[in-house]
Amino acid sequence: MKATAKAHTNIALIKYWGKRNEPIILPTNSNLSLTLDGFSTVTTVHFQDDLSSDEFFLNDKFVEGEASKRVIGFLDKVRTMAGKDMYARIHSLNHVPTAAGFASSASGFAALAAASTKAIGLELDDRELSILTRQGSGSACRSIFGGFVEWQMGEREDGSDSYAVPVASKDHWDIRVAAVVLSATEKKVSSRDGMRRTVETSPFYDGWLQQTPKDLEEIKTAIIDKDFEKTGNIAEANCMRMHATTLGANPPFTYWQDTTMRVMQNVQQMREEGIPAYFTIDAGPNVKVLYLPEDEQKVKQRLQQITGVEEVIVSKPGKGISYL
Ligand code: PMV
Repeated sequence: MKATAKAHTNIALIKYWGKRNEPIILPTNSNLSLTLDGFSTVTTVHFQDDLSSDEFFLNDKFVEGEASKRVIGFLDKVRTMAGKDMYARIHSLNHVPTAAGFASSASGFAALAAASTKAIGLELDDRELSILTRQGSGSACRSIFGGFVEWQMGEREDGSDSYAVPVASKDHWDIRVAAVVLSATEKKVSSRDGMRRTVETSPFYDGWLQQTPKDLEEIKTAIIDKDFEKTGNIAEANCMRMHATTLGANPPFTYWQDTTMRVMQNVQQMREEGIPAYFTIDAGPNVKVLYLPEDEQKVKQRLQQITGVEEVIVSKPGKGISYL
């Protein structure tokens, strides 16, 4: 009753921003991401008769509190599905080249879902696994698959039609993503709290809901056509619109810091100089920059020179979950 799985994180090009059902995590809009090879989590789950509670170790450290509650809550769902009542020892290793706030719930919950269901003897197909993973962390349901992935929001109240589907494999298109790690990061508003506050209070949220389905349809065509300029422009604009909703919330907030904006301006400046590069930002201050392989050296060097940038980590399109 032991299994090990590996999952990579993903970066949303069309953001998931808002839930229509919080307990089982149903989104208000369909969204799309690229799975990245640079950041992964390897998780081993071992169900054992002699345990009286779950034990969760992250990077070899025993974890208590909120982080372990989410993991245990997720295992409760797995136990219910399997009809088995056993506790587990969970060992998770985050393969992130730095400790600077890039540990991701996406790779974490995808690896946990894959390892725990296998260990307990459930045989789920990728769709069923995506539906289950979604209930741990929304963005994680996309990490079941490699390459370009759409999370279809679905319509049903039970969430049975809300899951990720592959749009194009990782070998379809070799584009690159530089994760720009900032040196000083303040305590952030979690994606969960940020989404809730925005959905409930931001008058800009309706605009977000109207525009995002159009962005999604257009970016899918651009990805299939390998149109980098179009893909980058839509991703950057969609990111700006998501972040604009937070400024309208009550109380207003932003995830951006001064270095975030310096990186954004440098990316736009690079474009003026003829280097096609585009940014996107999730629920935090760090920036991800999309570019083409032939511009790697120029883009990396430029980003590393920006005041307040600690590290630049480069990723290629990554693969979906695997069992080790
Ligand atoms: O699944 P969560 O709670 O990590 O939320 C992710 C939200 C964003 O990163 C901002 C957007 C996205 O689609 O990944």
